[in-house]
Amino acid sequence: MKFFLDTANVEEIREYQELGIVDGVTTNPTLLAKEKHRGDFRDVVKEICSIVDGPVNAEVIGESHGQMFEEGMKLARLHENIVVKIPMTVEGMKTVHALHREGIHTNVTLIFTANQALIAAKAGARYVSPFIGRLDDISHFGVELIRDIVTIYGNYGIETECLAASLRSPTHVVDCATAGAHIATMPFAVLEKMFRHPLTDKGIAQFLKDWETTGAKI
Ligand code: E4P
Repeated sequence: MKFFLDTANVEEIREYQELGIVDGVTTNPTLLAKEKHRGDFRDVVKEICSIVDGPVNAEVIGESHGQMFEEGMKLARLHENIVVKIPMTVEGMKTVHALHREGIHTNVTLIFTANQALIAAKAGARYVSPFIGRLDDISHFGVELIRDIVTIYGNYGIETECLAASLRSPTHVVDCATAGAHIATMPFAVLEKMFRHPLTDKGIAQFLKDWETTGAKI
């Protein structure tokens, strides 16, 4: 499973880039708005592209096909790794289809049903983003949607990748991996928590304490 960081914060991205475990980045208008102190959002997106050697997702704002297509073309010109995020609407799917014909990768966002994921794939989306956390928030089992999408895509040899989004905890990542998600995009705080276990810390402390009694050096 590929890991994407769900952030527009360049320091966070830089920190994990060194570990070689981040395969891409997702942003959305909310995440970019948090970084508005850095200036033009296009510069933020370009800086992210200079750090990460993989897909960097940037979202359109327009609601009509015409607006989304124009914005998508502009975003795609920022860097070759840009993936254009398009919301799951009829107009959005026209744009996905048109950008696909231009050879531009798209990610259909705000996916909440398997039918929406099927439509997005048929329109030519490279990725779909089912929002797990937001489904859990309204008492659905978000991970079931991941399982359904992965099964359906597998049944028909569909190449669109299922990018599990709106992840809120380390257990969400395990659930999505178990369900077969191709990619999990996660906030920095979730990735940080995935490293930790109190028994790891306890074990390290014990090993160090015992080693000190030997007086030896490596
Ligand atoms: C990423 O592509 C999504 O926009 C993001 O994961 C949404 O997360 P949220 O539901 O926590 O806002």
